[in-house]
Amino acid sequence: MDDIYIEKYQNTDFKAVIALLVQSFKSKFCRHQKLSNNDIGNILYASWHLKSDDTAYLHFVAKQNKKVVGVILIRCGKIENTNKNIPIVSLCRRYGIYNVIMMYTKMAMLENHKLNEGECYIEHIAVNGTCRGKGIGMLLLQHGEQALLDRGYTSYTLAVAGGNPAKHLYSRFGFVDIKKTKSHLKGYLIGESRWTIMQKVYNHE
Ligand SMILES: CC(C)(COP(=O)(O)OP(=O)(O)OC[C@H]1O[C@@H](n2cnc3c(N)ncnc32)[C@H](O)[C@@H]1OP(=O)(O)O)[C@@H](O)C(=O)NCCC(=O)NCCS
Repeated sequence: MDDIYIEKYQNTDFKAVIALLVQSFKSKFCRHQKLSNNDIGNILYASWHLKSDDTAYLHFVAKQNKKVVGVILIRCGKIENTNKNIPIVSLCRRYGIYNVIMMYTKMAMLENHKLNEGECYIEHIAVNGTCRGKGIGMLLLQHGEQALLDRGYTSYTLAVAGGNPAKHLYSRFGFVDIKKTKSHLKGYLIGESRWTIMQKVYNHE
């Protein structure tokens, strides 16, 4: 753990972050479609425009020997519509219309939280499979918390799927359940129908 450090996300981390997300969430992306890790990575790479200077996000990576081993992406403001830059036709030609539509539907489902005043929302947090259970997830959550407090935000929110053991970590960090949801469509598309919204609230006074 001593050699792990947290940094602000840089544009040069993009490919490594995509690879980490594919590894961590593959079971969701692959459900009802046959795509290799490479295919999923390429679709995400062409579709996402994660820029380090985007003020709508707080974005950090955990590194070990300059290699990305963890990531947290926190949405804290209104995002620009970047859909116009997606090469949708060439993606459909390469991976098939079905696969592309499925991927976009899943991404839209996983990113559908509407922010309240003062709220920051964790879009994703992931740690490399070989480095889990060593406190890196906790470090990323703490870094995110410090950044949002420095900017005067008042709440930290996330959604966690029913059986995800990550819920232990979130409870230990101080998140509490505020809402439970059930969606058969999410169950069908990403294999998780029960979700819990968890939140930590701060009083700046
Ligand atoms: C969730 C995740 C980011 C936690 O990172 P981490 O570095 O393992 O977290 P920490 O070491 O700080 O804390 C470990 C806690 O995470 C939980 N956890 C979840 N998956 C785990 C795994 N594969 N190995 C070890 N711990 C895991 C444990 O319950 C543990 O909590 P506990 O010690 O109170 O029991 C990481 O396990 C991960 O990337 N999981 C896959 C992606 C994912 O599910 N992301 C969360 C979406 S809401």
